Amino acid sequence: ASQASIIQRRPDFSTISSEDLSYFKNILGERGVVQDEETLDAVNTDWMRKYKGTSKLMLQPRTAEEVSQILKYCNSRCLAVVPQGGNTGLVGGSVPAFDEVIVSISHMNKIISLDKVSGILVCEAGCILENLIAFLDNQGFVMPLDLGAKGSCQIGGNVSTNAGGLRLLRYGSLHGSVLGLEVVLANGTVLDMLGTLRKDNTGYDLKHLFIGSEGSLGIVTKVSILTPPKLSSVNVCFLACKDYASCLKLLLEAKRKLGEILSAFEFLDHGAMDLHYLLCYVEQVLKHLEGVRNPFPSSMHNFYVLIETTGSSESYDREKLDAFLLHSMENDLISDGVVAQDITQASSCWHIREGIPEALMKAGGVYKYDLSIPVEKMYDLVEEMGVRLGASAKVVAYGHLGDGNLHLNISTPQYDDNILSQIEPFVYEWTSKHKGSISAEHGLGLMKANKIHYTKSPETVQLMANIKKLLDPNGILNPYKVLPPSLFTES
Ligand code: FAD
Ligand code: MLT
Ligand code: ZN
Repeated sequence: ASQASIIQRRPDFSTISSEDLSYFKNILGERGVVQDEETLDAVNTDWMRKYKGTSKLMLQPRTAEEVSQILKYCNSRCLAVVPQGGNTGLVGGSVPAFDEVIVSISHMNKIISLDKVSGILVCEAGCILENLIAFLDNQGFVMPLDLGAKGSCQIGGNVSTNAGGLRLLRYGSLHGSVLGLEVVLANGTVLDMLGTLRKDNTGYDLKHLFIGSEGSLGIVTKVSILTPPKLSSVNVCFLACKDYASCLKLLLEAKRKLGEILSAFEFLDHGAMDLHYLLCYVEQVLKHLEGVRNPFPSSMHNFYVLIETTGSSESYDREKLDAFLLHSMENDLISDGVVAQDITQASSCWHIREGIPEALMKAGGVYKYDLSIPVEKMYDLVEEMGVRLGASAKVVAYGHLGDGNLHLNISTPQYDDNILSQIEPFVYEWTSKHKGSISAEHGLGLMKANKIHYTKSPETVQLMANIKKLLDPNGILNPYKVLPPSLFTES
């Protein structure tokens, strides 16, 4: 749906002229200036196909210097800009709201260095996450970040959204593992903060401003990140629980009994699992696969938990996992389960979990909420939402339970304003009342720029707006996103 009905294009922004195009062609060459309709249609449309801009221009710089020249020029001409990485963002942040110039970082995809003692990787921001994972794997290291969109998302996009993902529980957030950044500011200044030090307390640690600022404060062009060593023993199990209380007890047990080897604790409810079965069924029909991938052929369960351990000793890790599973079964915390016997089975378990967002997309319209909520209360919201919506929609819940992050999705045959009015503002008010966050990891983007007050105080939002005005006085970087646009138009 067009955003034009909700927000107005800022009248002080210029539109592209033929002189502008000549300037860009001069600095980037013909190849770096993209105007063909098919490509523009793709880069104007977000992954969810919910947000669509009308940009007539995408620029593809290859160096920070080129990004600097682009921004300096756009700033002087008051041309608005959307930084774009892999365009897998889920909140409408990566596509233009109107006709902003798209600055794609995709061609800046070189790996610069890996220090094999410290594990510090330095690379350009357009490196695709999966390529970094594969590169590191070959060198005996792992990326401290993994997510379902790894095949397309870029490290610069990950940093800019402060992506959480599947192993935050083990490796912490990017605020911990990113050691340095190179960022280009709106006026073209290249900020070299590309430190490769674990410890550096010289003044304000400004890189943190750009981690999670969704392209609203600068364009990230290089990243330095601490990567842990690859460990040899990985176990994955997929377990079923009869109720949500058992999932919580299992989480506590996993933390206690698996301790340092626990590397993921994900959950999905039966609504999410149904989607998986549906997708498998469709795949089976389409591709004539042999048998639906079903880890629990005998019965259906209310909740499912995926647990992964990563350690350095197969026998020690397996002993710990077996003791944990035995104890959990004896205490009736799990009602069924499988332990992956090899890497193929382990990837099948991950495939189920990571495939849910795509399965939702295939099922029709989806209203997506990404919430941090104290874990004891988390599933109450899902149940209340189910009662509110009745048979009009399917409420599907999954997420990073180990991090207190719920992905609440409402799946409908098609988008319907009546259903939306049943969901919002209820979902935001409920989250706020329970001291949660309306964005655990996806960011605010266009979808939630006007909702920030549900989680942040007015004083905090005002300071954020002041910082934005300081770094980007003309407001050219990703306008209308992250913060309420009214803060930048009213005096
Ligand atoms: P884009 O979508 O291109 O951009 C995202 C935002 O960052 C935009 O505001 C954009 O302007 C800005 N941006 C991009 N690159 C730069 C740059 N170089 N400099 C400055 N700003 C930039 N997120 C999670 O946190 N955890 C998950 O588990 C997770 N799983 C996902 C699974 C799927 C299937 C999908 C489709 C998305 C998922 N996401 C998840 C959401 C998404 O945030 C991440 O996919 C990813 O971090 C976005 O990276 P990207 O390169 O695609 O960025
Ligand atoms: C996930 O954990 O699968 C992602 O954050 C995407 C989503 O929420 O759909
Ligand atoms: Zn997620």
